[in-house]
Amino acid sequence: MSLAVEIAGVRLKNPLIAASGTFGYGVEYEGLLDLSLLGGIVSKGLYMEPRDGCPTPRIVETPSGLLNAIGLQGVGAPAFVRDVLPRLARYDTAVFVNVCGDTVEEYAEVARVLAGAPGVAGLEINISCPNVKKGGMAFGGDPRMTHEVVAAVRKATRLPVIPKLSPNVADVALFARVCEEAGADAVSCINTLLGLVVDVEARRPKLAFGTGGLSGPAIRPVAVRMAWQAARAVKIPVIGIGGVSSAQDALEFLIVGCRAVQIGTANFVEPGVYARVLAGLEDYLGRHGLDDVNAVVGTLRFPGEGAEAGSEG
Ligand SMILES: Cc1cc2nc3c(=O)[nH]c(=O)nc-3n(C[C@H](O)[C@H](O)[C@H](O)COP(=O)(O)O)c2cc1C
Repeated sequence: MSLAVEIAGVRLKNPLIAASGTFGYGVEYEGLLDLSLLGGIVSKGLYMEPRDGCPTPRIVETPSGLLNAIGLQGVGAPAFVRDVLPRLARYDTAVFVNVCGDTVEEYAEVARVLAGAPGVAGLEINISCPNVKKGGMAFGGDPRMTHEVVAAVRKATRLPVIPKLSPNVADVALFARVCEEAGADAVSCINTLLGLVVDVEARRPKLAFGTGGLSGPAIRPVAVRMAWQAARAVKIPVIGIGGVSSAQDALEFLIVGCRAVQIGTANFVEPGVYARVLAGLEDYLGRHGLDDVNAVVGTLRFPGEGAEAGSEG
């Protein structure tokens, strides 16, 4: 049975990737699971310089979810290349780096630093973080800025460029198309949904930053809908993200057209989630008489529609 997939010319041994910001730089999870089980890992967001992120409290639980305003705390790209990449090289998994910037030039600069480093499979361009005052969602919420950032990173590197789309827009398909036109090799879909939780006694936001990004099972139907819209809009691969914690969840994204899936908030609950989801995917393929996970991709049928190309049966 084959679980291997290909994203932007990168072969992944299976379609499961750890989502940015929920898996540290990967090495933090070394003692908890075998990192070589994963199709890939996306690092926490990196700027050129180290950053402290937002003041605490930075996380609050919500019904079936989590609201966070970590604010892109990190060690900076040069320290990541020097200290973290050599440790990750011990594992048989694809390492993607989540690239951040306050300015278009900074995104390109971070991309250049990483392009020269061994062991980076691709760059995920974070134009969708809701927890920073500059860059992030401000870039990913404006088609012109999205184009500018993606084109600048495209020019800076030959590594696969994978912009991460914001769900905080009315028309995600438009942004997916803009990324494709600007030279992206794939898109990740989605980042967190902008939210606000209020402490009613204090009449203040529960997070020190004020607003935050909502993740976890609560956002999955929104994420699946947006991934489906993005996958229909572009030819480049879409990586689905949002509330995945089981094989069923991952399959929803694959069936609507995603070629791979990221797991985020579930890492906090069950770091060993990958082995369980992989076993569930194999079980599903077996039950449906399939021997390749790619046969499931894009097989969504709406009531009354005939079978689409590539569907089983
Ligand atoms: C605590 C936390 C930190 C995150 N940090 C980043 C980040 O640095 N860069 C990024 O692109 N996304 C970041 N995300 C978003 C996740 O990668 C993912 O897109 C989102 O959480 C939805 O997936 P999930 O529901 O599986 O968590 C973060 C999410 C959480 C919960």
